[in-house]
Parts: sequence; structure tokens; C-alpha cells
Amino acid sequence: MDTTKREAETVARLEKNFSGKFGEGGDIRVYFAPGRVNLIGEHTDYNGGASLPVALDVGTYFVVRERPDRTLRFFSENFPDEGIIEGSLDDLTWSKEASWTNYPKGVMWAFEKDGHGIPHGFDILVWGNIPNGSGLSSSASVEVGTGIMLKDMTGADVDLEEIARIGQYAENNFNGVNCGILDQMAIAMGAPGQALYLRTAPFAYEHVPLDLGDARIVVASSNKKRGLGDSKYNERRAECEEALGELQQETSISSLGDLSNEEFAAHEQAIASPVRRRRARHAVSENQRTLEACSALRDGDLGKFGELMNASHVSLRDDYEVTGPELDTLVESAWEQPGVIGARMTGAGFGGCTVNIVREQDIPAFIENVGSKYLDTIGYAADFFTVNTGEGPRRLK
Ligand code: GLA
Repeated sequence: MDTTKREAETVARLEKNFSGKFGEGGDIRVYFAPGRVNLIGEHTDYNGGASLPVALDVGTYFVVRERPDRTLRFFSENFPDEGIIEGSLDDLTWSKEASWTNYPKGVMWAFEKDGHGIPHGFDILVWGNIPNGSGLSSSASVEVGTGIMLKDMTGADVDLEEIARIGQYAENNFNGVNCGILDQMAIAMGAPGQALYLRTAPFAYEHVPLDLGDARIVVASSNKKRGLGDSKYNERRAECEEALGELQQETSISSLGDLSNEEFAAHEQAIASPVRRRRARHAVSENQRTLEACSALRDGDLGKFGELMNASHVSLRDDYEVTGPELDTLVESAWEQPGVIGARMTGAGFGGCTVNIVREQDIPAFIENVGSKYLDTIGYAADFFTVNTGEGPRRLK
């Protein structure tokens, strides 16, 4: 079935379910925001460096109708047991009971704080086809999707970059996760067949055509619970900030992304602790690898691109220490498979998933072999998804 037909069927099904939950009639609108996977440039976004994510053709659908009052009613087809969760525009505060609706509510809160009024409440039905727990940023997808919905429903003058910032602000200050802007930008700026070159200081972005030839992107989910992930993430951020402060004693840099590998080597002794030195080395070298990976992509040198992905994993494993046995097993066994152009962990780490560029004909054997190696070594199964790049967030109806 072609994509347009499948999408039309999905929209029709969700509209019907919406009417079943919230009643018929009125101006019902449908929106979509993709998920994302980062090809290279990990833990660089909060260090002023570069990353290279792609938006996917899976994501989150929103069916929405304005209400005459200020009530919010949410239903997720992914969490049907939670039923309709109610809230109000007059009480946009985080609560445990609000469950997943803390994501859209956080964006509404941040949207208003950014100066855009929301005059009426909404009934909202959500459905996401990002595989559960796959690490493909379902929360940022919900955030950016809520942002474009609010823009369209309220007529606010806000562009996609601002919507990404609002999403990040909500995640940081409403949901308490200290993330950078990578995920929200990757989703907001998504375009089929394109990767997004994103640099955070100075802030800049541009699309880079992604021509993988006869290869495709395979995501492997470790199915490891993140556990301490968020606190470790904040710990890495703090380590990098401290290392930056030490380097600033003898350089005039404003972020770790300002340094070349050679400049870093010349000044690394300014960082007192060996651990912080390794953290900073990763931030610097990963930024350089990402710049090289962009050039390799532009030159059509996929072999080089893959080598840089592999080197990224080694740096995340040894210098940044955010991989762990699950991600290392997935990646190191991927490297041994025929047809693998590059493999690395992607996202925050500490569990989550890996991204692999694999020749199409070799994908079945890749999944079979990496899957059984993982099961033998770790004791539970990984999940594999072959993914496609896709369009950015938009109104479907
Ligand atoms: C998470 C964060 C991003 C980024 C990555 C690591 O996905 O949300 O902002 O820092 O980790 O590259």
C-alpha cells in the first residue's frame, strides 16, 4: 500500500475513534509529528557542537477539536487503560496523575509563557506508531506535535525553530529533564531523504541529502530500562561544564565545540581530573567527527561515514562512558556482520538503542546474528526496526 493511502486510512480510523471518545461534530483537525534518530554527534548539543539526526516516517498523530471552555481532555490509544485524562488551561502544573499528558500540558504552559495565549481548551486523541521504548524520541515528537497544533489552532505567530525551543523549554522546566535541543530540532525540521546538520553554538542548521545507496537504517532497541539514565545525563552535563570552566582559565573559548582536537590536546592539562578530561575529549572529538561525517555525506563517501560512526561509539564507550554492556554488545556484534557500514549507540545512552547502516540484502542475517548474540550475552531479546526518513511535523487534515 502506498504511503498516502496508508496515511488516509490512519487518519480516517483515528477520526472515527475520536468521535467515539469525545462525540461527533465540530471542526476536527489532524496533525502529525515524526520521531527521530541521530546518526552521529552525540552529547554535543549541550556542548556547542554539531549533530546529524534524521526525522522518521513514524511518529505521533493528534486528532483535535477546540472546546467552548478551558477544559483539556486527552486520550491516548497507546495507553487506553488510562482512559480520558482531564486537565485545565487554568491549572497547567505537573502532576503524577497527569501521566503522559504532562508532555502536551508542558508545551501549553511553555507556549503561554512564550507570549502566545490559548483561549480555549481542547479534546485531543493521540496515537503514536514509534515502537514502544525504542528510544526514537516519542516525547519530543509529542512536544513538537503539540506545538504545531497550538500554532494552527490559535493562529500564533511562531515558527518551527521557536516551536522546537518551546518543546525543549517544556521538557527542561515542566518535566524536569535537562535535555539539549537536538531531538526537538530534528523533529521540527524533518524532511524526507535529508539529515539535519545542527550546530548549537553559534546556532545554525541546514539539510544534508542522505543518500545511503543500497543500504538502510536499522535501529536496534536494547530493551534495557533507562534507570539512572536521567541523573547520569545531568552528571555528564555538569562534568563538561566544569571542564569548560577549567579550559577557559587559559583559552577564550565559549563552548567545547570551539576547539579542534589539536587545540584540545594543547590545553587538556588545564582540566584537573582525568575523568573530566575524558568527558571533554569526547565532546571535542565527537564534534570534529560530526563535521567530517557531514563532508563525507556530501562527498558520497559512505565508507568514511560508517568509520566515523564506529569511532563515535568507541568514544562514547571509553571517554564518555554512557554505553554499558547492552549497547556495547549490540554494536560490537554489529561490527562483525557483513554489509554493516557503520554502527553506534544513539541518543542519551545508558540503555536505549543503536543505529546501524546496513546493506539491504544483509539485513535479515544482521538481525538474526546480532539478535542471537545479544540474547546469549544479555539474557533478554533486543528489537530491530528498519526505519525510513520522513517529513517534518504538519497538519494532515
Ligand atoms: C538526549 C537529549 C538530547 C541529546 C542526546 C545526546 O536525546 O534529549 O538533547 O543531548 O541525549 O546526544
